Amino acid sequence: MKKTSDFEFNDLQGLLRFGYGGLTDTCFMLLDVVNVDMAREWLSTAPISSGIKASSLPDTAMQIAFSKEGLSALEISKTIIDGFSDEFIYGMVRSDNCSRRLGDVGHNAPKSWKWGNNAVPHVLLLLYAKQGGIDAWRKTVEDELFKKAFRLIRLLPTTDTGGNRMEPFGFEDGISQPTIDWALRQGTDPHERDRYSNLLAAGEMVLGYKNEYGQYTERPLIDPAKDPLAEHLPNAEDDPTLKDFARNGTYLILRELGQDVPGFWQFLDKVSDSEPNKREKLAAFMVGRERDGTPLIAEHIPGVSRKDHGNNFTYDLDANGVHCPISAHVRRANPRTGDLPSGVTGFISQLIRILGFGQKNHDADLVASSRFHRILRRGRSYGPTLSPEEAIQPDAPIAERGLQFICLAANISRQFEFVQNSWIINSKFGGLQQESDPLLGDREPLLSGENTDQFNHLDSLGAKQKVCHLPNFVTVHGGGYFFMPGLRALKYISSLTTKGSHNES
Ligand code: HEM
Repeated sequence: MKKTSDFEFNDLQGLLRFGYGGLTDTCFMLLDVVNVDMAREWLSTAPISSGIKASSLPDTAMQIAFSKEGLSALEISKTIIDGFSDEFIYGMVRSDNCSRRLGDVGHNAPKSWKWGNNAVPHVLLLLYAKQGGIDAWRKTVEDELFKKAFRLIRLLPTTDTGGNRMEPFGFEDGISQPTIDWALRQGTDPHERDRYSNLLAAGEMVLGYKNEYGQYTERPLIDPAKDPLAEHLPNAEDDPTLKDFARNGTYLILRELGQDVPGFWQFLDKVSDSEPNKREKLAAFMVGRERDGTPLIAEHIPGVSRKDHGNNFTYDLDANGVHCPISAHVRRANPRTGDLPSGVTGFISQLIRILGFGQKNHDADLVASSRFHRILRRGRSYGPTLSPEEAIQPDAPIAERGLQFICLAANISRQFEFVQNSWIINSKFGGLQQESDPLLGDREPLLSGENTDQFNHLDSLGAKQKVCHLPNFVTVHGGGYFFMPGLRALKYISSLTTKGSHNES
């Protein structure tokens, strides 16, 4: 039987396994390749951190990912690039329709982005260091060769967290994450998966492994007879005659999201008649957790304690959103309902539900199963902290604050784009209308003219409470799709020469 330790962690970039929370300081750089040979030379010795667990926290870590433009700049063949998904190839800003679906309209429209709207920078380099160590780490990395190989396109703002996990609005972040089945034991048989589970097939996050459908996500596979460099790569699990360029790699989705912290708290203060408890409650309703991370259903669902900041709950016993509003950010981002509504066991009852009969109420099947739409969040926030009490003051200091939203997933469209479009931005969600995610909604009216700027929740008696005219709290400043390769694929990339032959040096 396979064990977690059997997984090829030595070929995996560490970010797939760790959030590097102990490395509190970060420097995220968007780079363009200016000298291909020098870029390859630098890549061939770059100390990219693997997924192997060290006995103690390292002082620093480095991770790297490439946009499609970056792979082209490094002269990766068109055949390989064409093996990636269309979303990666054509990008986040691939059409007006795509931008509308992602909520990138109005104030979020790509035309006003700071980066990523025309071409996505070639390389995303993520540097992490222990408190106080990032400047020295960055200096070490930016040696002469690095400077000749790359041009800095944008230094993404980040703030050294000091171990604080609060995002700029003041809520604890990074709590709910899927657990990857590194031991590759997870069955995909629906009979074994009739409950919401946090454990996910490795192929949902890592390319080259079976996903939750029991299939392998499309990715570039190379015929070794046609490419001698492919010897560096692992065999494809689903076709061992081919080499797998993407095995142990993943897609990295980056969005620079500005947060209007004074605007958020001042709006809540206004609609709460400046009553601090009311304001705090409404903010928690919008997020779906209290500021310290306590799930809103904690006191109401048996088995979920106030201290349970984890993931061990569903909303099945709060179907109408009395405790946690249906539109709350965390409930939209992960409705948590399993493949089949809870309590369904046995072949006959499952068949009845699959065929759409026997539902106790219409809410049960309004949200699609969530195990196909999970993401691994690895973002970091930026900007000076501002407490709600400071933020409600009319002279609250204005500053750039926000989140470098980073998530990892093996399928950009089924995971990130689905969550962003169908759950977060969609104004028709869970029986609701005229509203979208209370934090992230773009507030733009639909083409039909219908508004999307409401937030509805229920009071303790179950009566509907409507908050109207929500302003924008979050603005997209840039974004792009990247491929974070496994370390053997990185070796392949750095071994190419301009003529496409093996670089023996
Ligand atoms: C500025 C923007 C954002 C803010 C302030 C924000 C804030 C939060 C907070 C406070 C939580 C609860 C704590 C936790 O479980 O980690 C959370 C959870 C989550 N967020 Fe966001 N978020 C933002 C953007 C996004 C985006 C763009 C996505 C996806 C497209 C997303 C997806 C999620 C998911 C999947 C969860 C976990 C839900 C669960 O499993 O319960 N968030 N977010």
